[in-house]
This record gives sequence, structure tokens and C-alpha cells, in this order.
Amino acid sequence: MASKITPYVFGSAARRVCIASRPAIRSQRRAFVASPRVASDSLFVHRDSADNNASIPFKFSEQNNAVIKEILARYPPQYKKAAVMPILDLGQRQHGFTSLSVMNEVARLLEMPPMRVYEVATFYTMYNRNPVGKYHVQVCTTTPCQLGGCGSDAIVKAIEGHLGVHNGETTKDNLFTYLEVECLGACVNAPMVQINDDYYEDLTPESIVSLLKALEASAKDVAGTPSKVPAPGPASGRESCEPTGGLTSLKGEPWGKELFKKEFQ
Ligand code: FES
Repeated sequence: MASKITPYVFGSAARRVCIASRPAIRSQRRAFVASPRVASDSLFVHRDSADNNASIPFKFSEQNNAVIKEILARYPPQYKKAAVMPILDLGQRQHGFTSLSVMNEVARLLEMPPMRVYEVATFYTMYNRNPVGKYHVQVCTTTPCQLGGCGSDAIVKAIEGHLGVHNGETTKDNLFTYLEVECLGACVNAPMVQINDDYYEDLTPESIVSLLKALEASAKDVAGTPSKVPAPGPASGRESCEPTGGLTSLKGEPWGKELFKKEFQ
């Protein structure tokens, strides 16, 4: 009997020693990680609404059809889907925003699956997939604009204070949609905003408020005397993006004739 159970006794004892001396087995469970909740899903999801659903008809105007013809002529016929971006832009300009119907019409014209058009329109933030006000005020809040001049925080505060709306909202009169955006490529003129197609740069809280007031006055002016809206560009008096303190380099005479081309000598 003893000889029959001995191997089991020794065997299980040996197994216990072996398990004890083994490094702890790593848990096979992985921690469940959730991405932080996105405050708004408006960038990623389409939800039918009264002014944005597939049953709203959209056709390009005669004038825009001529432009589309011209755009398509730039590409070989088999690659006409390469024209998706300029034609989406055209649709947005005609309709006011890049609605589902605009995207579907672009897909039909370019013989693309609608999903391919949606992918483009949802990737680029320049396509507004919801209605925006007459003036789309996009404030750059990336680091150089946060640090340059008075800083974009002051501009944001001035806009919110004047318009009474927050990021992503439109004023009740549908005049202004205000949005915080990433770098618009005019960092040297920070802080800046883009309003529709124009850049307004070197801003201060006072200059942005007076710009908004001028735009509002110009939009509401029914008497026919357009209010003076400041010209786009730097509000500081700079011509462009030259140094504010004047030239710091290349100020002297060129030091060698040999640097000139023959015809300038
Ligand atoms: S950081 Fe504002 S334009 Fe580049």
C-alpha cells in the first residue's frame, strides 16, 4: 500500500516545491482602459436633423457646374475623384455648409462611394458639416498664438464676452459662429483669427471687439451705407510679417559686385 501511495505523496510535494520556486505567473487579465470621454461627438457622427438629412435635395448651380467642369479638366478622367476637395468646397460655399446632401451629390458626380466622400469631409475641419453663422470666427489657440502678443486667451475672453457664446456656438441672430481651432499658419502675427476666408492678425482684445462690431454693423446695415469693416491682415500697422522693431538683418550695402547678376551690374 505504502509503496503505491509514495509516488503521489512525493509527487505532490515535489510539485508544491516546484510551484513555490517558480516566478509568479503574470496575470492574463489586462486592465480595461477607456479613452477619455469626448465632450462633443459632432466631429465624428452625423445625426439627421431638419436642415441636414439625405432627403434634402441639392444640386450645383449653373455657374458652379461650369466651375466643376473646369476643375475636372485638371485631372485625367479615370482620376476624377481627385477633385473631391475643391468640389466639396464649392458645395459648401453654395449651400452654406457641407451637408449630407452636398456630400452625396459630390459622390454622385465623381462616381465615388459616398463613404469615401464622408471620409474626406470628416477629416478636414474646413468642411463645416453643420450650419454656421454669416461670419465664421475661428480663433487660433495653439501655443504660438497663446504666447504671442496679448495671447489668444485674451482674444477668446473678449470674443466670448462680446458675443455671449462659447466655443462651437452660434449667436441667436445667426451672425457669428465662434470656434477655437489649431494653428492657422500665421503664427508670426499672433494672436490671430480667421473670419470666413480672411485672416485678422496682431489682435488685441480691443481690436477684435471693434472688428466684430464693424462686421455686425455691416451685416445689419439695411440703409445701404456699408459700415467700414477693417481690412484683413495685421491690425498692428505691420505691412505683413516683418519684424515689429524694423529690419534687423540685410541692412547694409551688398559687399560684392560678383553677387549681382550680369544684367544688374
Ligand atoms: S499658432 Fe496661431 S497661427 Fe500658428
